[in-house]
Amino acid sequence: MDKAGKILSTFIFLSVLYAAYSDYLTTEQIGTLLCVDEIASHHFTQGQPLVISMPSVSPEFSYRTLNHRYSAGIEFKLVDQLLKNTHSRTRWPLLTSQPNIEILDTKMTYKHESYIILLWADDKEENILRTLQDQLDHMSGYADSWNLRGRFLVVVTQFGTQSPKTIAMNITEILWQYKISNSLIMTPSELQFNPATNKSEYIFDLYTWFPYESGQCGTLNDIVLLERCALGKDRNTSLYPSKIPENMHGCPIRVFTFASKPNVILTVKHDKEDNSSIYEYSGVEIEYLKLLAEAINMTVKYLPPLDDKFHLSDFFFHGLISVVNDEADVTLGNFPLHHRATAYCEPTTPYIYASFRWYVPCAKPIRRIDNIINVFTVPVWSTLVLTLVLSSLLFWGMSSGPSRSVTKESTTYKAVSQCFSNAWAVLMGVSVAKMPRTFRLRAFFFTFVCYCFAMNTVFQVYFTSFLIEPVYEKQVETFDELQQSEVIYLAHPSLDEIGVLINYDEHKLLPRRENCEPYEKCMLRVLQGQDVTTMVMDFYAEYFASTAGQRKIGKKPLCSIDKAVFTMGLTMYMSKGNILLQRFNVLIQRCLEAGLGDKYWSELKWNATIRKSDERVDDDDDVSSGNLMYFVFTVFHLRVAFCLLAFGNTLSFIVFLAELLSKLFFPRVGFCKA
Ligand SMILES: *[C@@H]1O[C@H](CO)[C@@H](O)[C@H](O)[C@H]1NC(C)=O
Ligand SMILES: *[C@@H]1O[C@H](CO)[C@@H](O)[C@H](O)[C@H]1NC(C)=O
Ligand SMILES: *[C@@H]1O[C@H](CO)[C@@H](O)[C@H](O)[C@H]1NC(C)=O
Ligand SMILES: *[C@@H]1O[C@H](CO)[C@@H](O)[C@H](O)[C@H]1NC(C)=O
Ligand SMILES: *[C@@H]1O[C@H](CO)[C@@H](O)[C@H](O)[C@H]1NC(C)=O
Ligand SMILES: *[C@@H]1O[C@H](CO)[C@@H](O)[C@H](O)[C@H]1NC(C)=O
Repeated sequence: MDKAGKILSTFIFLSVLYAAYSDYLTTEQIGTLLCVDEIASHHFTQGQPLVISMPSVSPEFSYRTLNHRYSAGIEFKLVDQLLKNTHSRTRWPLLTSQPNIEILDTKMTYKHESYIILLWADDKEENILRTLQDQLDHMSGYADSWNLRGRFLVVVTQFGTQSPKTIAMNITEILWQYKISNSLIMTPSELQFNPATNKSEYIFDLYTWFPYESGQCGTLNDIVLLERCALGKDRNTSLYPSKIPENMHGCPIRVFTFASKPNVILTVKHDKEDNSSIYEYSGVEIEYLKLLAEAINMTVKYLPPLDDKFHLSDFFFHGLISVVNDEADVTLGNFPLHHRATAYCEPTTPYIYASFRWYVPCAKPIRRIDNIINVFTVPVWSTLVLTLVLSSLLFWGMSSGPSRSVTKESTTYKAVSQCFSNAWAVLMGVSVAKMPRTFRLRAFFFTFVCYCFAMNTVFQVYFTSFLIEPVYEKQVETFDELQQSEVIYLAHPSLDEIGVLINYDEHKLLPRRENCEPYEKCMLRVLQGQDVTTMVMDFYAEYFASTAGQRKIGKKPLCSIDKAVFTMGLTMYMSKGNILLQRFNVLIQRCLEAGLGDKYWSELKWNATIRKSDERVDDDDDVSSGNLMYFVFTVFHLRVAFCLLAFGNTLSFIVFLAELLSKLFFPRVGFCKA
């Protein structure tokens, strides 16, 4: 029922159309109109701008067509009807384009979504192709609205002398030159009798092209007949299949790059017999390229780089130009996402964020406390001794006296020497011979114990932290501090240029300035800890630190001001409309999510560090310079304690000797009391 109804309605629709058109449109044109109508209504996104482009009319052209088989007037009747149809459907914002009509507003903020390009010629077949070029050239004048990835329907309105396939191939070739691949080419093919309507109908062939399928690597060999369109035929094929290649089947991709460590490192260059060189690269950005190449099975071919004598900006310029001129498919190597470049090329998703930073001298350790006597300053030590003396005297004073309570006190606290001994014991944290008995003495004794406990804790904290962690100078942390410091600014000539590009001129404020070239020399001076500073990209600085052997385990070789001067996203540039771009973006996103690039970057640094430290096994200046994180704690640091012990021992030995001698020589003195 449903199907019958549909057929019936189609039939009625067709009859009405025939009735309406047949007065002034040819059968061929009616066929064209119906097919275009159907393709547009099924495949063009509703609500998005639709551009209908047609050849221009020159007065001479219309004049000459007066007594010609194809008169321009007839063609424009078709256009009129097409516009009327599409317009009355109110499905798309409609725009017409003709090479002889000036584009008035190029600042439109929307992208064209679909294009219908009508082609006809007055006499020669070749003219079809020329008018196509004219129309494409004209439409590309729409600047930002011009959408190479939109859906293109190219309609050839006349039977030609060439076969439909040849014409379709010629058209595809031109479209591909403009990087248009999402195209459908409709050519009239043959006349067929349709018993349903009792009329002859035109059959139209719909051709498309898959640039990286069936052994083609972006060079046109064969096109595909997707569908044939006849009146009233119920079609169900996707006429705009995705052209984005999932697997490139080993097709080559031409890459222009230039060595700039660590993102692009030239690893091998060997010459073949015929004097052509083969280049191989590695590096962080190249790693991304390799991952992409592996994922979609393409072969990377590097174009020969420019001579070293060129300026850095020449490399960028040359890279972009070679992409625009279709000498390279991709260019990469420290290319920032920049509006000047995006005017000519299309960037991928940025995959590395690099920053320019100020690298400043690291704060040096001022001193390491190498003696426990230095834990406290002289006033603290003096107060401590004074407290000890006064407390001992207070002990003695409180326990000796005429009052009754005092008589209860232990004899230990009645002699001054004993009091000293007890106070010393409390300070050292050992037990006393006897505890005090009276309340007053106990109270004071308790206070003294608390005091000693606090002092001991403080001492130990300082002792461990000072001995083990050295004290540092103040680290330069802001640009203002850098400006006020005595540090020399190593000015590389390129920094002024970069400053202009990134709108930065604060570096001119640094008072002490010294010209420095090449970059390696400047960086080495920074790494060696001289009082110099320079502005460098962080990737370069870290890599340089690894390869220069200055990055050692536990040692921080580079210090920078936290606030970055300028951060930029690095990206690859491709020609506008390149069909690989969307695939690349998806894959880059996956690489970023999996952290593959970061993994490579840390391995690269680590391998360089290890390679460098292998080379310098016998280098042991670290121990003497005392810059390592660990620290050998020796008796030397405790020498004061041992000195005191020795002093005490000597003193008691002398006292012992004196007592012995006095016993020998004056025996009566010793016994007189007894
Ligand atoms: C069109 O294509 C045919 C074969 O593919 C070729 O021989 C012919 O030269 C082409 N014509 C133009 C104008 O490019
Ligand atoms: C088609 O034309 C033939 C002869 O011209 C006629 O016999 C036949 O009935 C027609 N069929 C239809 C469906 O009009
Ligand atoms: C068109 O094809 C799709 C799947 O290929 C199918 O689900 C759908 O029913 C088809 N429609 C018609 C009208 O045949
Ligand atoms: C990559 O392409 C080559 C050449 O066509 C093919 O032999 C190989 O099987 C492909 N590899 C994958 C993983 O598709
Ligand atoms: C390669 O270059 C050398 C010197 O530059 C030249 O003598 C030789 O003929 C060249 N060989 C070829 C195959 O071009
Ligand atoms: C680092 O060294 C390891 C072990 O030699 C090697 O497997 C890895 O590929 C190297 N990585 C880089 C980035 O050079």
